[in-house]
Amino acid sequence: MDELKIVRSSEKYAVSYCETFDEVAKEGKFLSISGGYPIEDMIRFIKGCQRCGYPQFLLIDPNGRAVGWCDIVRRCEAPDDVGFLGVGIAKRYRGMGWGSRLMTAAINDAKKRGFNEIRLEVRASNYNAIRTYTRLGFVKIAYTTDGVVTDGIAEDIWVMSLFCREIKRGGFEREKFFGRFPKTGFKFKKPNN
Ligand SMILES: CC(C)(COP(=O)(O)OP(=O)(O)OC[C@H]1O[C@@H](n2cnc3c(N)ncnc32)[C@H](O)[C@@H]1OP(=O)(O)O)[C@@H](O)C(=O)NCCC(=O)NCCS
Repeated sequence: MDELKIVRSSEKYAVSYCETFDEVAKEGKFLSISGGYPIEDMIRFIKGCQRCGYPQFLLIDPNGRAVGWCDIVRRCEAPDDVGFLGVGIAKRYRGMGWGSRLMTAAINDAKKRGFNEIRLEVRASNYNAIRTYTRLGFVKIAYTTDGVVTDGIAEDIWVMSLFCREIKRGGFEREKFFGRFPKTGFKFKKPNN
């Protein structure tokens, strides 16, 4: 267990991050898509997170490969102080506490960067993940029937939030929660040049 380390993401891990993401997505039970992204998209995503200061941490194996990820990003449809968490660990490293450590690193970083709420969507059948999130302090805030459709199969999702400090939100976001699984439009700042 000690041979793994948690580091901030960087482009040098883009290939293995891509491969691990693809591996987890292809399990077909956990993520909202059933395959990975092209390498160019992954590099753009890593650079975007760096430019905007979004927490992005990777779990690195002894061969220097990313075998897990956790990122917290802004999304177009939500207020700026809400960060959306994504996480995944290669199958062989699950259930050993790495996911919790990776998420704790990203959540602590997000708090320092002024995020007030960390939100995520999780398939209702993903009991391991829901238990882990609950242990970290996330609470269920909404339920969406058929909230995610992967390869033609619909599944319900829970929306869960970790409130970093007490905040009051109006009801204006409510219909977003109970709509379809949101399209993930990340908010990245435009480069200056
Ligand atoms: C969800 C996930 C990130 C959690 O990471 P992890 O390293 O497995 O989490 P931890 O070891 O910190 O805790 C997992 C819990 O499940 C238990 N567990 C036991 N065997 C397990 C296994 N083979 N796989 C997953 N969890 C297992 C752990 O003991 C722990 O239970 P506890 O909360 O009662 O202590 C990881 O399981 C994963 O990548 N799953 C597939 C992708 C996924 O679901 N992503 C999230 C989509 S919303």
